[in-house]
Amino acid sequence: MCGVSMVDIRDKGGLEKVFASTRFDAVVHFAGLKAVGESVQKPLLYYDHNVAGTIILLEVMAAHGCKKLVFSSSAAVYGSPKNSPCTEEFPLTPHNPYGRTKLIAEEICRDIYHSDSEWSIILLRYFNPVGAHPSGYLGEDPCGIPNNLMPFVQQVAVGRRPSLTIFGNDYATKDGTGIRDYIHVVDLAEGHIAALRKLFERSIGCQAYNLGTGKGTSVLEIVNAFEKVSGKKIPLVIGPRRPGDAEILFSSAAKAEREFKWKAKYGIEEMCRDQWNWASKNPFGYASPDSTKQNGHSH
Ligand code: UD1
Repeated sequence: MCGVSMVDIRDKGGLEKVFASTRFDAVVHFAGLKAVGESVQKPLLYYDHNVAGTIILLEVMAAHGCKKLVFSSSAAVYGSPKNSPCTEEFPLTPHNPYGRTKLIAEEICRDIYHSDSEWSIILLRYFNPVGAHPSGYLGEDPCGIPNNLMPFVQQVAVGRRPSLTIFGNDYATKDGTGIRDYIHVVDLAEGHIAALRKLFERSIGCQAYNLGTGKGTSVLEIVNAFEKVSGKKIPLVIGPRRPGDAEILFSSAAKAEREFKWKAKYGIEEMCRDQWNWASKNPFGYASPDSTKQNGHSH
């Protein structure tokens, strides 16, 4: 796209140039790495991108007098809470390096606000973002074997993988499978716009908000909804529980609803519909079929 350039947030000189070229009123900071398994294997990479990168961004923002920030945090900061719905006051005990990088970045934000009350910072704790833009032009295209449920289901539906492995069907839930709070990416995007508006309304300090629907959905319910909208059968294999997985985790979205006047609009059916629309139009994501030599096996 004309006029758009990319800079790594760890490149302080590059960021300096960006901030010198334009006066920014606020920053929405999405940049980071997000694969939990990879963060266990390569923690320094995660601390470098997610923590060091955030520090550099905050330094440059401060130097240019831009002190309004919306930060992409994660429900991973809660670890596995004993009960749900999970409110923003729940203990922050992440279970993996990825979650810890998000918590450390949150703590840095809280500290800079305490050192300088001109900062206004909203920390958005995402639950499970899924779906795609309804146009079918924008969607998630993970490299290699997807870690997350929805991209995996999508790749089974388009025939790129033979089956979905369900990580445990012996949980104390309605059908034995894990329960999560899936949120449509369009609702999530609108949550950011609402958060930005809030930053310009009044000084907010540094506060965390959950972005979720407040509803729990099981793995089997997702599979059933996806089969319904796509007309495709998703072959299932029941596997063991995935280490570190919570049984039930869903949000209380009450704080964001109340203070942002925002509420997630889309349900599971719409999330699956838009995921399928993206998948069926782009079965190989942004790549052409020839350029993706996947290793084909399920997990
Ligand atoms: C994961 C991350 C979380 C991150 C979020 C982003 C872990 C442990 N947690 O959350 O930190 O913020 O993604 O969206 O990775 N499932 C299967 N089979 C699969 C994949 C998943 O049964 O092939 C199940 C899981 O056991 C879980 C549910 O589907 O019950 C959702 O899993 P996933 O999409 O990986 O998200 P989370 O684990 O909730």
